[in-house]
Amino acid sequence: MIISVLGCGYLGAVHAASMAELGHEVIGVDVDPVRIDSLQKGITPFHEPGFDALLQKNAARLTFTTDMGAAAEATVHFVAVGTPQSADGSADLTFVNAAIENLIPYVTARDLVVGKSTVPVGTAERLSKLVTPTGAILMWNPEFLREGSAIEDTLAPDRLVYGVPGDDSGHMATALLDEVYAGILAKDTPRLVMNFATAELVKVAANSFLATKISFINAMAEIAEVTGANVTQLADAIGYDPRIGRRFLNAGIGFGGGCLPKDIRGFVARAEELGIGDALSFLKDVDDINLRRRSRVVDVLREELGFLKGKKVAVWGITFKPDSDDIRDSPALDIAESLARSGAAVVAADPEGWKPAEERVKRVGEEEAFSITPDHIEAALNADALVVATEWKVFQEEDPATIGGLMADKLVVDGRNCLDSEAWKAAGFRYRGMGRS
Ligand code: UDX
Repeated sequence: MIISVLGCGYLGAVHAASMAELGHEVIGVDVDPVRIDSLQKGITPFHEPGFDALLQKNAARLTFTTDMGAAAEATVHFVAVGTPQSADGSADLTFVNAAIENLIPYVTARDLVVGKSTVPVGTAERLSKLVTPTGAILMWNPEFLREGSAIEDTLAPDRLVYGVPGDDSGHMATALLDEVYAGILAKDTPRLVMNFATAELVKVAANSFLATKISFINAMAEIAEVTGANVTQLADAIGYDPRIGRRFLNAGIGFGGGCLPKDIRGFVARAEELGIGDALSFLKDVDDINLRRRSRVVDVLREELGFLKGKKVAVWGITFKPDSDDIRDSPALDIAESLARSGAAVVAADPEGWKPAEERVKRVGEEEAFSITPDHIEAALNADALVVATEWKVFQEEDPATIGGLMADKLVVDGRNCLDSEAWKAAGFRYRGMGRS
């Protein structure tokens, strides 16, 4: 089948290459010529394990272009553009609206337009009214991919969700998308068909649940910090109950990235618009708990060092999670920036995030207080304190005695509870975890 994918950012690029892997001929369309050029050459414009190889393996079935007209050849059109956060917290639909409007002249009767972007509930119903007059059908098929395992999440998802129109066209849309995903469905992947509103809500509900789970354990960390309890042992113990489960119960400096923070805020904004803000008022607490974890690190350093001005602090980690180069709403970067604002001399190190962070620091004019390096050993030299803010494996594997030998003072703040605390203490460090000592 010939497929177009509109928007070749993280989601769209991975989706396009994965559809080619399933055997389809794919045309990826994006307004950014630099990104398109890179993808056309088989070079990933972001960090995602295995993605270069997937692009190159399927190069014969993949075309990337800035020309929307190329989508005319396709029968199924995926819309995978971004929905960033607006100033008021709601989702900004500019790109989704533009993608649909620009696509419409090129779709023909019986084509399928499949929305993948995360949108406020009610969007698909509205867009359907624009698509239907062409004779094409709109459906919504949210994605749940995680950065770092995006290819596996696309080709072997936990489930497929189809949001379809209520009339007969819903059956046609389902049959056509089943054909596209035949290779995935053959692996007995659960496929759930529902109305537009439910499909839209599935995505934001899933992300809200995950965010709530993380903030729940971080709230327990706050209690543990005052009572002397150990939040990791607490998470292990409650996590054995299969109704609770241990995953997403790692306390630390909280969640960040391009999805969870913006999706919960967008969901709250939409509920308020609908006059049912009370239903989601708890998500504001989830957000607050999450942001409090970032300032907790700064407080711990103040407690330990007395004052921050003039102290050298090494921050290991800049990305919002390991195996990614994504610094969007990264707790690690936020902490490094607030330490620098408090007068500390901050050196932040990250194997992948250093590059986007350096560009950002230059853009906002923070070069003076805040330096960035790919080399975490260099960052630790003569530091008065070390903050571990992203749980990269290379950081966890470091020998505490060697690191202690490089630093001016042996203080470590384990923002991800990812270090062997006993080993660091044995090497003479004052160890401060998040909700554990
Ligand atoms: C998330 C969802 O998992 C995915 O299904 C959705 O499609 C997009 O948003 P992603 O943003 O890639 O994916 O990151 P994820 O692995 O979910 O982690 C989000 C954040 O939560 C990270 O900052 C991570 O460090 C943090 N986190 C995760 C914790 O603080 N504790 C945990 O136990 C788990």
